Amino acid sequence: MHILGIETSCDETAVAIVKDGTEVYANSISSSVLQFEKLAGVIPEEAARLQLEYMIPVIQDALKAAGMQPADIDAIAVTRGPGLLGSLLVGTTTARMLAAIWQKPLIGVHHTLGHLSSTWLGTGPANAPVFPVLTLSASGGHTDIWYRTSHMHGSLIGRTRDDAAGEAFDKGASMLGLPYPGGPHIARMAAEGNEKAYPFPLPLHGDSSCDFSFSGLKTSLKYLLRDLPEPFAVSDIAASYEHALCRHLVDRLRKAVELHPDTREVHLVGGVSANNHLRLLTSSLCHEYAVTLRYPLLNMYCTDNAAMIASAGYFQLMEEPETVTANFETEASLSLQKTLAE
Ligand code: KG4
Ligand code: ZN
Repeated sequence: MHILGIETSCDETAVAIVKDGTEVYANSISSSVLQFEKLAGVIPEEAARLQLEYMIPVIQDALKAAGMQPADIDAIAVTRGPGLLGSLLVGTTTARMLAAIWQKPLIGVHHTLGHLSSTWLGTGPANAPVFPVLTLSASGGHTDIWYRTSHMHGSLIGRTRDDAAGEAFDKGASMLGLPYPGGPHIARMAAEGNEKAYPFPLPLHGDSSCDFSFSGLKTSLKYLLRDLPEPFAVSDIAASYEHALCRHLVDRLRKAVELHPDTREVHLVGGVSANNHLRLLTSSLCHEYAVTLRYPLLNMYCTDNAAMIASAGYFQLMEEPETVTANFETEASLSLQKTLAE
């Protein structure tokens, strides 16, 4: 089954064609993020205006890359939330229009469910992930831990109480004078620094939940920079801050694995899952508990993309065909917890 996925929840205009939730035929993306680099954030109206411009060319690009015609597409999946409303509307309106004109079924997908499916991209039946899966989904907008026994069954077991992990990377980068989005820049600087140079606290350590809190680490960085005599090595600060953020993420994952001893695999998804230090620390944890570690096979599957939406749409259709309806609402603050069955 070939699904055309559309994702426009933030600054990206992305279209992909994926077979059976795993085999990526095309994964086109046009991002306006560079236009927002100096602003350390996205201007919603401007992002939506650019998406309107990019939408049709990106669809044409994906069809061309896959060597396909609209007749070869079996269904359309689109992100229906959460995200910036104007941006989401560009995607969902386009998807509705295509579904009507091409006469295809339409599947509304939760953006985070897309991230949770991103570890299936590029896998085949022989090496597909095995449930129960614990997934840390960490990006600029969310930081959650999900425990799932199938694609559509499971629950949220940890969430951030303040900032998202990606936001903590981005704000830290901005304090260090690095460009937006800051995660990759901190990682690049950190690779040359000493992670033990500046000790940071470990938030919520010993807390009985699997929740996260990043605001304290951000404040620690602010005071460190205020009080530090110049000159100092930015790479040492970047390495110590990156280590603090990753150590917190892995400490909460450890709690999750202990609470769910039947876990077979731990997955890292979302923009922050591209972080090598996080992968390294999680790999030791997985080794300790004898569970499989997975993260998206390509870095372009970590950050927002449409292949993951096409994949999630496929699994949603396979597991719960009766719940798939073209009659969905586009929602800026859509809850995944309500979408998943216990
Ligand atoms: O999933 P994503 O593309 O968009 C959202 O849905 O937010 O994630 C973007 C976030 C940004 O905050 C960015 O700084 C972070 O992911 N990020 C990274 C890395 N690459 C991207 N954070 C840490 N290390 C990286 N290598
Ligand atoms: Zn995302």
